[in-house]
Amino acid sequence: SRPIRIAPSLLAADFARLGEEVRAVAAAGADWLHLDIMDGHFVPNISFGPVLVRALRRHADIPFDVHLMIAPADPYLEAFAAAGADLISLHPEAGPHLHRSLQTIRGLGKRAGVVLNPATPVAAVENVLDLCDLILVMSVNPGFGGQSFLGSQLGKIAALRRMIDAHVAAGGQPIALQVDGGVTVETAPRCIEAGADVLVAGTAIFGRPDYAESIAALRGTGRA
Ligand code: DX5
Ligand code: ZN
Repeated sequence: SRPIRIAPSLLAADFARLGEEVRAVAAAGADWLHLDIMDGHFVPNISFGPVLVRALRRHADIPFDVHLMIAPADPYLEAFAAAGADLISLHPEAGPHLHRSLQTIRGLGKRAGVVLNPATPVAAVENVLDLCDLILVMSVNPGFGGQSFLGSQLGKIAALRRMIDAHVAAGGQPIALQVDGGVTVETAPRCIEAGADVLVAGTAIFGRPDYAESIAALRGTGRA
């Protein structure tokens, strides 16, 4: 079985103590830190920008996984790269040239990801697989933490797992398969079973008292 990585979403953290929260989840075993960037235009909520990403960068050494929910995204890719993002993911709907956006991210020396909204088909990514280090399946509509998991997305995760495995078998580079939205100890095993290998979780980690216990439980290595 493939290793499962956990990426806590900072959106559910205490925003008055963000540095401390980042250090706490890193110490609790988080593999990546997921940072949700919202512009109040592409999604109906506003979060934070590159200035905050930069300020948090010195609080942990784990990869910063930046999920852009902004349109257009291209004018801001360089700022997020300079702020310390390791992975930068964007939605195909954020601009007319997904292929070019992914090339730009790679050209900045960062890993690139494509995010599929619940209504966005797998076909949106199949012609840019060679430029993807990550594919993220949204299991809620983006914009807010704490929403219920959409089981309708499990088939998409399974289809992407088959697509990625075929790509790698044909000599392609590895691609992480991530799920974001409503991931809990109940829904995480269904995502893993369908083929996901990186789970994003906001409220299921920051909304609970023991971060290490919650991360281990989501990974499937917690005490029963
Ligand atoms: C939603 C964000 C998610 C969100 C997940 O737009 O992309 O990363 O923070 O929150 P939970 O885990 O609470 O559903
Ligand atoms: Zn996210």
